[in-house]
Amino acid sequence: PFEVVVASSGAVIEVPGDQSIVQALGAAGIYVPTSCEQGVCGTCLTRVLRGEPDHRDLYLTEEEKARNDVILPCCSRSKGRVLVLDV
Ligand code: FES
Repeated sequence: PFEVVVASSGAVIEVPGDQSIVQALGAAGIYVPTSCEQGVCGTCLTRVLRGEPDHRDLYLTEEEKARNDVILPCCSRSKGRVLVLDV
């Protein structure tokens, strides 16, 4: 498990192992637009303000993944304990 900090409100959302970031945010009333939910379409692209994503999508290039400034939260996770997202 890890935590996502919602930059707009400061809310801290726990993401359990059996939920995606999108699902955990949705349960807290924060809706990220999605389409494929499999990491291929790019619809859910979200800016990362702090933290290191664990990229599991097939959409970003290796270069984009290495920059760690965006994430596909329908499937990707966090390497660290906390991820601050621009939502
Ligand atoms: Fe398609 Fe996340 S919804 S990449």
